[in-house]
Amino acid sequence: GEAITVADLAQKLALKGGDVVKALFKMGVMATITQTIDHDTAVLVTEELGHTAVRADADDAESELLAHVEDVQGETSPRPPVVTIMGHVDHGKTSLLDYIRRTRIATGEAGGITQHIGAYHVDTPKGVISFLDTPGHAAFTSMRARGAKLTDIVVLVVAADDGVMPQTVEAIQHARSAKVPLIVAINKIDKSEADPSRIKNELLAHDIVAEDFGGDTQMVELSAKTGDGIDDLLDAISLQAEVLELKAVAEGRASGTVIESSLDKGRGPVATVLVQQGQLNKGDFLVCGVEYGRVRALFDETGSQVPSAGPSIPVQVLGLSGVPDAGDDFVVVDDERLAREVAQQREAKRRELRLVQAAGNRMEDIMAQM
Ligand code: GTP
Ligand code: MG
Repeated sequence: GEAITVADLAQKLALKGGDVVKALFKMGVMATITQTIDHDTAVLVTEELGHTAVRADADDAESELLAHVEDVQGETSPRPPVVTIMGHVDHGKTSLLDYIRRTRIATGEAGGITQHIGAYHVDTPKGVISFLDTPGHAAFTSMRARGAKLTDIVVLVVAADDGVMPQTVEAIQHARSAKVPLIVAINKIDKSEADPSRIKNELLAHDIVAEDFGGDTQMVELSAKTGDGIDDLLDAISLQAEVLELKAVAEGRASGTVIESSLDKGRGPVATVLVQQGQLNKGDFLVCGVEYGRVRALFDETGSQVPSAGPSIPVQVLGLSGVPDAGDDFVVVDDERLAREVAQQREAKRRELRLVQAAGNRMEDIMAQM
């Protein structure tokens, strides 16, 4: 690999040279900003700083994988919007999701037990909408840290009997920094204390201006308890999605992101992934974070087996070598060899990084005692 000066690396990462020097120091590498560091150190410090390093070396398995992803550049077609529900504690996020899920998800014939799944899609008269559960969850945060986008629209739930609260403001900032459009769901309008216009006024202070106040933010008054206004919310989402003109390659090798994962006693590692490009099929080989495997089965949110899943559709994947992390990406590859190679390389890098970090920590301890 190639060497690079600390200053050049800092520039590539849009960071101050001093920050890179500090990160290097933590890793146990002494360097000034004019000094040159080798390729591997550059990769490690880049990752230490929360960025993803992409190698320029053509013979690396990781770049073979990258070529795989770039290969999938066929026709794009419209895809469903991916919506994340956010809002302050107790303002009704789960109730809203539950109501939509209850009324809109066609449960599978056998069993019909809806399992907990971090994401699901619903059919509306205006098309499919995918929802991500557990607002601000790990995948969302980790995706944001990487600058990638998992969600197209944020629905901000504000209880009409409570008002704009700290986590409401946090959600606004979240959506803003991720450049994701916001729709406000003014919830609990069935309550006698509900005062929707007060909510709109309070949101003004945060530059969220309702359409009937002359702004451009859609606000829907609803009740997750009675179901009043929920169809209006689904309409508002569809309208926003149309404006966004969301598209993806619907055919070919799939790629996407892990929403949540767990180790199931009977079924082994289970990952709920959101497909973002291509089509994920049963039998596909994939790399998923530092794990790999062949898709043994796919399940939708009702627990029914499905043969495949396309863009914006969440599915549970069985057949991975281990439990990936929320926020990890997955990529389908042609053969098991490449899947295994990439996964093993990543695992090796991660181990290396841990060792370096451990060394860095020890060094900090030593420094602290000096
Ligand atoms: P956290 O997950 O704790 O952040 O809360 P949440 O935002 O998911 O709120 P949740 O859906 O758990 O609702 C909180 C409480 O408000 C529950 O007791 C709900 O029954 C109640 N609630 C939610 N929506 C409505 C509504 O539209 N009307 C009324 N009257 N109560 C509601
Ligand atoms: Mg909840």
